[in-house]
Amino acid sequence: MMKRLVLKDLTIEKPLFLAPMAGISDKPFRQICKSFGAGVVYTEFVSADGIVRENDRTFHYMRFDECERPIGVQIFGHDPETLARSARYVEEQLQPDIIDLNFGCPVPKVVKCGAGSAILKELPRLEAIARSVRAVVTLPLTAKIRAGWDKGHIVAREAAKCLEQAGIELLTLHPRTSKQQYSGEADWSLIREVKAGIRIPLIGNGDIKSPGDARKMLEETGCDGIMIGRGAIGKPWLFRDILHYLQEGELPLPPERADIAETFFRHLELQEVHYPLMYAGNLFKTHASAYVRGMDGAAHLRYEMNRAKDLDRIRELAKTFF
Ligand SMILES: Cc1cc2nc3c(=O)[nH]c(=O)nc-3n(C[C@H](O)[C@H](O)[C@H](O)COP(=O)(O)O)c2cc1C
Repeated sequence: MMKRLVLKDLTIEKPLFLAPMAGISDKPFRQICKSFGAGVVYTEFVSADGIVRENDRTFHYMRFDECERPIGVQIFGHDPETLARSARYVEEQLQPDIIDLNFGCPVPKVVKCGAGSAILKELPRLEAIARSVRAVVTLPLTAKIRAGWDKGHIVAREAAKCLEQAGIELLTLHPRTSKQQYSGEADWSLIREVKAGIRIPLIGNGDIKSPGDARKMLEETGCDGIMIGRGAIGKPWLFRDILHYLQEGELPLPPERADIAETFFRHLELQEVHYPLMYAGNLFKTHASAYVRGMDGAAHLRYEMNRAKDLDRIRELAKTFF
């Protein structure tokens, strides 16, 4: 149902993508998702301005380990020249497998600078950015878009064509408008329409929370692969379950409490390895709460974890809980 994709020298065996998610898709989470079968992962988005200024924090977000390949670094910005310089820098310094352009972020801080989804209001700029980056990088170049700025301006079809003409190798569509942010439902029919108008592979994204959703999106839209974001938070085994369901046609059993505990502690250990102790605990809290969602006693654990000062305390609380 999902065929392998070839982008230049890169072969993607399983077009099952972990979505870029700021504050979520960091190294530990990417590695956990990879261990469950995610075929491609992306970094959290990074600012092109930050890259050219060689900002330390920006570099922290872009670092990855070899075991995460194939991995894409996602960049955002407004100025074609700056995006091109930053992409070239990423290619030379980090050698990821993919460079991805963000044309979907709805966060006010980003759109106020004319970046992210604001570029969907300016298709000539969108095309200029893609062309200027394409001209200077040799790695596969991908882009991620939303449906449009608001419901009166659904431009995904035109944007997809511009990006294809500019030399993008693969496109991901999250079919909500920027104004919608994450409310309402993703309009999967738009994925089908965009797919019909382009020849490059299209990855469908939005509201996949179960193996059944994954199959439905593939069948209903004809997309070439799928990308999963929120559905994998606290449930990274979703990638394994989707692959199993698509291959075997049957739903896997839900994980036992002991399986959830194993993943929880494995993630916690990675957190400890990758972050200085003083940040590791706070950065893990969103994931930790998501792992126990719906379980007996989860509300109390979440309350206690939120007050925890460090990762050791979270470990102690979780040991008692599990
Ligand atoms: C906390 C959070 C952070 C996100 N950060 C990014 C980002 O940095 N770059 C991006 O392209 N999309 C970002 N997104 C959007 C997701 O990649 C994805 O398109 C969206 O969540 C819809 O997919 P889902 O329904 O599977 O979550 C973010 C989403 C969330 C929830």
